[in-house]
Amino acid sequence: MLIRDATTADLPQILAIHNASNASIAETTAIWDTEQVELSERQQWFDIRRASGHPILTAEIDGRVAGYASYGQWRPKTGYRRTVENSVYVAAGFQRRGVATELMVALIRRAADLGMHVMVAGIESSNGTSIRLHEKFGFRTVGVLPEVGYKFERWLDLTLMQLDLSENTP
Ligand SMILES: CC(C)(COP(=O)(O)OP(=O)(O)OC[C@H]1O[C@@H](n2cnc3c(N)ncnc32)[C@H](O)[C@@H]1OP(=O)(O)O)[C@@H](O)C(=O)NCCC(=O)NCCS
Repeated sequence: MLIRDATTADLPQILAIHNASNASIAETTAIWDTEQVELSERQQWFDIRRASGHPILTAEIDGRVAGYASYGQWRPKTGYRRTVENSVYVAAGFQRRGVATELMVALIRRAADLGMHVMVAGIESSNGTSIRLHEKFGFRTVGVLPEVGYKFERWLDLTLMQLDLSENTP
């Protein structure tokens, strides 16, 4: 497995993982978009992250993008500039093989190297897999926002988890 910075050539595969995580399975509430996104949206996302100096990392296996991880500033105002919110997605065929673990190690190290202070994860509260993944890295639950999302005709709770990067870099 090769963990590396994403390039624009990876965007079609990143798009496919994003859209599959969003909509392929009725119970998937990992992403709170309600529509499939287009390549142009991922290109814009890529350009904004690149311009902000925020990483987009991919895990490559046999020449394919098995998963990706990224972060952006948690909230827009400059006072939040050293607090970031992460995201990590692994293609269905590559799950449970340690891909997310490798991506998280690299992402957390990169954030610490770039002087980030706190990493936040906002996770749909019934997504036990993602909550366990984050706990493995020392993220702790700091709050739950009830019914702040709506998808598949039901309200979704958001569990907020937080990692102090100065103490927990793997
Ligand atoms: C969550 C996700 C990124 C995990 O990716 P992965 O590559 O399968 O994870 P790993 O193989 O590195 O496993 C890491 C840890 O996650 C947890 N985990 C992963 N899959 C799990 C499963 N099916 N059931 C329970 N725990 C699971 C375990 O704690 C595991 O650690 P362990 O192997 O030491 O027990 C992946 O399932 C995914 O992309 N899901 C859909 C999108 C999503 O929910 N993203 C997170 C949004 S906040």
